[in-house]
Amino acid sequence: MTLKEKYGGWALITGASAGIGEEFAKRFASEKMNLVLIARRKERLDKLAADLKSKHGVEIVTVQADLADEKFLTGITNITFEKEISILVNNAGFGYNGEFVNSDLRNQTDIIKVNCIAPVVLTHHFLKGMIERKNGAVIFLGSLVGYQPTPFTTVYSSTKAFNLFMGEALWYELRRHNIDVLVLNPGGTSTEFQKIAGTSAGPAPRNVSQVVDTAMKHLGKKMSVVDGAMNKIISAMPRIMTRKFTVRIAGTIRKKYFT
Ligand SMILES: NC(=O)c1ccc[n+]([C@@H]2O[C@H](COP(=O)([O-])OP(=O)(O)OC[C@H]3O[C@@H](n4cnc5c(N)ncnc54)[C@H](OP(=O)(O)O)[C@@H]3O)[C@@H](O)[C@H]2O)c1
Repeated sequence: MTLKEKYGGWALITGASAGIGEEFAKRFASEKMNLVLIARRKERLDKLAADLKSKHGVEIVTVQADLADEKFLTGITNITFEKEISILVNNAGFGYNGEFVNSDLRNQTDIIKVNCIAPVVLTHHFLKGMIERKNGAVIFLGSLVGYQPTPFTTVYSSTKAFNLFMGEALWYELRRHNIDVLVLNPGGTSTEFQKIAGTSAGPAPRNVSQVVDTAMKHLGKKMSVVDGAMNKIISAMPRIMTRKFTVRIAGTIRKKYFT
């Protein structure tokens, strides 16, 4: 069954101008979903939309929105009010690298707005229609660093724990409404993320196609999934070691491979 057959309507993807979000857009269009694509770089969204429309014959609208802006929802609802959004992908996000005390405070609070507040606002808004129709799906982007407190990306790691907790708890709440929730947790994946965060994708980066494959395989079956075999093993560490030891290891690895 294709996504279109299962969920119908439109999929809304945040952060579709690059990386994992762009790959979601490509994959969903190939499954004949109509798309609403959100990001700040509209020219990139428009180019992607033109490519996908001519390739797959789907409808696509693009919306320029800064998810760190308090009023970002208005621009999105102006475009979506007559559309049945049946899949929401809360993908947009960014990180940073370095000691918290030396970090830029505005950047830190924007990370929380984009990675946490925006998914709360969007999910709260679009769930209402899904619940009325008794059909839909919400995907959150967590991360391997959401499984344990990770020094030198402390705030980012905390936002990803938020995404994981929010998605898993919602999975339970929404089961009775026939709405699927999946938290997709990649480890280091080659995208623009590393340049923006000033870090690296680590010793064995995955690619966006592998990451989105993992999501497609588990949507509707699991509440959360870690992408990649090695990442799965690392994510289990906090369950077998003390929390203190886990944080020490995370800090050491972070320093060695990512700073
Ligand atoms: N790459 C990794 O190693 C990795 C690992 C674990 C989890 N993740 C998660 O995966 C998600 C996607 O990241 P990625 O790796 O694909 O990064 P990316 O290539 O840098 O793409 C990030 C996307 O988010 C959008 N975005 C960032 N800030 C925004 C804002 N203020 N308003 C609207 N859109 C914004 C960007 O669009 P504009 O700049 O055009 O606005 C871009 O489309 C993120 O949630 C990230 O935390 C990534």
